[in-house]
Amino acid sequence: MVEIRELGDHVGGQVTVKGWVEATRGHGKVAFTVVRDGTGVLQGVLVKSQVDDATWDLQQSLTQESLVALTGEVKEDARAPGGYELGVTGVELLAPSAEYPIQPKEHGVDFLLDHRHLWLRSSMQRAGLKVRAEVEQAIHDFLYQRDFVRVDTPILTGSIGEHAGTLFQTDYFGDPAYMAQTGQLYVEAACPAFRRVYCFGPTFRAEKSKTRRHLTEFWMVEPEVAFADSNDNMRLQEELVSYLVERALERCGEELKVLERDTGKLEHIAAPFPRMSYTEAVAILQGKGAEIEWGSDLGAADEALLTEGRDLPLFVHDYPKQAKAFYMKENPADPRTVLCDDLLAPEGYGEIIGGSQREDDLDRLRQRIREEKLPEEAYAWYLDLRRYGSFPHSGFGLGVERTVAWITGRHHIREMIPFPRLMNRLYP
Ligand code: 4AD
Ligand code: MG
Repeated sequence: MVEIRELGDHVGGQVTVKGWVEATRGHGKVAFTVVRDGTGVLQGVLVKSQVDDATWDLQQSLTQESLVALTGEVKEDARAPGGYELGVTGVELLAPSAEYPIQPKEHGVDFLLDHRHLWLRSSMQRAGLKVRAEVEQAIHDFLYQRDFVRVDTPILTGSIGEHAGTLFQTDYFGDPAYMAQTGQLYVEAACPAFRRVYCFGPTFRAEKSKTRRHLTEFWMVEPEVAFADSNDNMRLQEELVSYLVERALERCGEELKVLERDTGKLEHIAAPFPRMSYTEAVAILQGKGAEIEWGSDLGAADEALLTEGRDLPLFVHDYPKQAKAFYMKENPADPRTVLCDDLLAPEGYGEIIGGSQREDDLDRLRQRIREEKLPEEAYAWYLDLRRYGSFPHSGFGLGVERTVAWITGRHHIREMIPFPRLMNRLYP
């Protein structure tokens, strides 16, 4: 058996390829069978006069997604998808497929999500998830090359990581436990051990909003660096994001083509990215007629307005304290604000990263925990980090699905994760 991606090594030779039937056509003298084997797509050509009746009849009876073995001669053909064709002399049915629900026509999105376990096989979905896998690998490579140590953080936790509003709570032998909203507090603890660290895993938020950019389970990479300030933090973010785009362009050209992505919009993505303060952003938004008041967080519409007409992602930094999480460091230059940033992707995609310098002053951090009415006992360990050699440090979280949606140009982030979890969806 040969994989479709290796066919170039077998031109003129006889091979057998196993794969799932995507389509069949032709009845008269020539019939075509398009198969997918997970490494590529191949068109098999069967000439009636050259095979026996049983082989011809079997080809004619093949249903979509049946698993078959096709045997024949590999031929170079620039017009064929993948560049090769198989002159089929043998067809074997390995596993028939019942009538396949996903047909080559338009289906409603609920129908497709109900059949997500099958929808994964479709070309657009394959392309999107392949880009996701490349981006994930690129994240690991980028951080590994820069001597970051990967630290796996717990999913079950007793400390609320971001805010109480979007927690999934479960019972932990009689006590409440939460599904991690972030691994951040734990990577902060690992900083004095390894200096540059990151976690990368699923995170959970009971988001009651049904928007194109919210999942209840999403993947986030969270680097954390000792001695980095907010400025260093933004530099790392822009370098990472530029690298991810570059890797996708370099290694996922075929996939981006399938997705009909205008890659011209990605080619110029390179650090440094422009920066503006939250206060400037509010003034611009008000100038454009938005209803925002200084003090509230930016919404999706605000973010889209700010990036309108811009080619590069945009940093908005130093948000008001009350709009952001308890652990962010107070801005010495303007204590109404904190040393943080959101990175907004262009083309209306909005926030893909949230980051900040962390409050390293014990009293101020304790004060913030009290102001937010978080249970102080649960943060004793976190406060210890400010007791035993407190140090300046910063970090950020990049949402994988939002980043991949932007890079692939897809509208909704639910297509960027193999099995999306949404407010109204736990199946399949
Ligand atoms: O801005 P957030 O909430 O930041 C944190 O969780 C910090 N603890 C990160 C850190 O400093 N270590 O989330 C970070 C990113 C967002 O910018 C977004 O890309 C993604 O996570 N994100 C979501 N993605 C999909 N669905 C959701 N419901 C998301 N919520 C956040
Ligand atoms: Mg955020």
